[in-house]
Amino acid sequence: MKLEGLSTAITGGASGLGLATARRLLDAGAQVTLIDLPSSDGKQVAADLGAAAQFAPADVTDSEQFAEALDAAHERGGLRGVVHCAGAGRRMRILDKDGKAGSVEDFEFVVKLNLVGSFNALRLGAERMAELDAVDGERGAIIMTASVAAFEGQIGQINYTASKAGIVGMTVTAARDLASRGIRVNTIAPGIMDTPLLARLREDVRTALEASVPNPSRLGRPDEFGQLAVSMLENGYLNGETIRLDGAIRMAPR
Ligand SMILES: NC(=O)c1ccc[n+]([C@@H]2O[C@H](COP(=O)([O-])OP(=O)(O)OC[C@H]3O[C@@H](n4cnc5c(N)ncnc54)[C@H](O)[C@@H]3O)[C@@H](O)[C@H]2O)c1
Repeated sequence: MKLEGLSTAITGGASGLGLATARRLLDAGAQVTLIDLPSSDGKQVAADLGAAAQFAPADVTDSEQFAEALDAAHERGGLRGVVHCAGAGRRMRILDKDGKAGSVEDFEFVVKLNLVGSFNALRLGAERMAELDAVDGERGAIIMTASVAAFEGQIGQINYTASKAGIVGMTVTAARDLASRGIRVNTIAPGIMDTPLLARLREDVRTALEASVPNPSRLGRPDEFGQLAVSMLENGYLNGETIRLDGAIRMAPR
């Protein structure tokens, strides 16, 4: 898919991996619609990115809001690419320190945000792409964001792992499901990326995290995620795949 002039939507686009992807997409000549919470900096961020960027506020777990935000992208000549980055974790244990059962609300919150949000990105994104004419045999492409926690979840990540493993599981199923529509689906599973999520960490914790990455021994740069996302959108033969972007890290239990 040639991105020049195409309309794309990036959820979680006001910050971190989503924002870095928006910058890469703009460099490739695409139009970008940043979809993020109304409380985010999305409006200002989009204004700073220039005329090819716009902000559409939405909570990705709210189908109506999310559909409206995608429409704002679709109105710019047809939605061809979705990069779904909105997501977060919330630490929890199966049993708390007193041996009490962990919070089902914390489990449901993260599964709803990460997994149901991703299903919304698939179904609402594909609904719009399916209306378009195919170009070189394809109508569009969707990228979801998992995590290495989908494969080696750490202690305290039971809810996050469940949601991210669900995204990895959905990837090939979604690619098959949407094949007849000419829509590709791929997923990026990042390791430890240097986004605002990690900016709050103490310097010694950050240094230890960097040392745990085999090569290169540093945190991932958000731009490296954006670079892969753009490549996944562009490469018409890449489909149904999850790619780890992690410097070969394999997470320890804690
Ligand atoms: N940073 C990492 O090390 C890392 C590693 C693996 C996976 N990830 C995943 O990458 C994705 C992006 O993370 P990031 O590091 O860029 O985080 P970030 O906090 O910098 O950005 C996430 C963005 O998502 C938005 N968001 C949160 N809930 C939302 C909702 N309900 N609706 C719409 N927008 C919402 C936030 O406002 C924020 O702008 C997440 O899915 C995260 O789980 C991050």
